[in-house]
Amino acid sequence: MNIQNKVAVITGGAGGIGSALTHALAEKGAKLVVSDLNLEAAQAVADEVGGIAVACDVSKEADIQALIAAAENQYGQVDLFCSNAGFGRGEPSHAASAADEVWQLQWDVHVMAHVWASRDLLPKMIERGDGYLLNIASAAGLLNQIGDAAYSATKHAAVSLAESLAINHNDDGVKVSVVCPQYVNTNILMIDDEARKKPLPGVITPEQCAQTIVKGIEDETFMILPHERVAEFYQGRAMAPGKWIEKMRYYRQSLLDDNGRLSFAKMFGVD
Ligand SMILES: NC(=O)c1ccc[n+]([C@@H]2O[C@H](COP(=O)([O-])OP(=O)(O)OC[C@H]3O[C@@H](n4cnc5c(N)ncnc54)[C@H](O)[C@@H]3O)[C@@H](O)[C@H]2O)c1
Repeated sequence: MNIQNKVAVITGGAGGIGSALTHALAEKGAKLVVSDLNLEAAQAVADEVGGIAVACDVSKEADIQALIAAAENQYGQVDLFCSNAGFGRGEPSHAASAADEVWQLQWDVHVMAHVWASRDLLPKMIERGDGYLLNIASAAGLLNQIGDAAYSATKHAAVSLAESLAINHNDDGVKVSVVCPQYVNTNILMIDDEARKKPLPGVITPEQCAQTIVKGIEDETFMILPHERVAEFYQGRAMAPGKWIEKMRYYRQSLLDDNGRLSFAKMFGVD
């Protein structure tokens, strides 16, 4: 898609990947609607790119409908909807220990938010024979996030939903991409701010991630992989699932601290 003059909406646009993506799309000439739970921070990003800001909690369908209506009122239509908002909590102990409320919120933010945006936009995009749905999932949606079963399961569901959208609606002129990054240096990493200032192995910047996403939009790539090695891991998992689990178990063991707890600091070599 040629991004110039297109109307793009970004959820979770107040920081991290969403803010970097907003700036990268602005450089390509998009008109921007920046939304987030945090309106003040979203407004600051919108001001930097000459766009508008809208408060939106993506775990509520009515908020997503109101966000799309605000974008349409301002600019006429939505050409590109970027479902980016997301979060990770980790889990208190074993892999089924996260509270039901946490599972439900992960489901709503990582999956239903994408459904609700599509439910509102698809009929209009199908009628126009044009439009773009970009859903940020995660490499955890192809592989696994050790220490967060709810994040992993819901990101897998997000990838599956994007596949359904593409299979059913590419022929209607609707483009679909799903973005599956590994680690990106944002607040979601759950390590302290000082540690985040150091170069972290395998961790890219939000700006690098956003550049790959924009290239993927321009090329209309279905699966956008900001870390190329994810394709290799994904293939390895498909070819030999048991062997892949075994490797992941060894990797998890290497991340345990002296008390047998998972250490995110060890994951990034900053313990
Ligand atoms: N950073 C990574 O390593 C990484 C890797 C893979 C995928 N992702 C995904 O990228 C997306 C962006 O994450 P990030 O790394 O920029 O994290 P971030 O925490 O920096 O930004 C997430 C933004 O989403 C917003 N948000 C959270 N819940 C929301 C809700 N209910 N409604 C509206 N906004 C909400 C937050 O306020 C925040 O501004 C997420 O979907 C995340 O799962 C991140």
